[in-house]
Amino acid sequence: MTAQLNADGDVAVLVPAAGSGVRLGPGAPKALRLLAGEPLLVHAVRRVAAAPSVRTIVVAAPAAELAAVRELLAPVAPVIVVAGGAERQDSVAAALAVVPADVAIVLVHDAARALAPPELVESVAAAVRSGHPAVIPALPVVDTIKEVDPAPGGSEIVLGTVDRTVLRGVQTPQGFRHEVLAAAHRAAPAAHTDDAGMVEKAGIPVVCVPGSELALKITRPLDLVIAEALLPLA
Ligand code: C5P
Repeated sequence: MTAQLNADGDVAVLVPAAGSGVRLGPGAPKALRLLAGEPLLVHAVRRVAAAPSVRTIVVAAPAAELAAVRELLAPVAPVIVVAGGAERQDSVAAALAVVPADVAIVLVHDAARALAPPELVESVAAAVRSGHPAVIPALPVVDTIKEVDPAPGGSEIVLGTVDRTVLRGVQTPQGFRHEVLAAAHRAAPAAHTDDAGMVEKAGIPVVCVPGSELALKITRPLDLVIAEALLPLA
């Protein structure tokens, strides 16, 4: 496990990339779908590797694609590739397990946020380094948000309008003191959609830093079109 970028860096970035990407339609695992001729994972890892604080990158890949992913990333950056699990949380846990003990800060990213810029990696890492145990990039919510009663098979009934000024859309990379993330994973039995959710459950304060429009999550076919349009800016 000697894959190392900047020996002076204090950050490991985990890149879960083992999802199937059903919402993108049929095809390869999501992280291996192409954006402008290159897999999303390559875009994501290239940007993470360009952040000067990063010492180690660990990718959790689909178990059947380990050799292919190692080959794909070899020209991009030195990375450790492990097999992911059934849920995102399992993939993160598998990647976390190989992070060297002396790494102080661990960021958890998504291969699906392929255009998240190196500056975002740095700002999350800097906020953790400055003393916050858990840091997430977040953006204000632009839509009006309704709470509904999701009656199965029937019309959804609006229960109320949520005050959007107190809502944030949350992105990755999310940053943690290494020991805080490790403890949250040891304690978290249920599935979580993000790592900060686990840390919140443990009563640890989580702070927000400004997110980036470029860090959009590529989930549905339209997101690929938007990401391609954003590429010249990313
Ligand atoms: O499914 P979702 O869009 O939430 O996935 C977010 C990220 O987590 C993606 O990069 C995906 O590849 C990864 N993931 C994973 N292992 C899973 C499910 C998702 O690494 N079992």
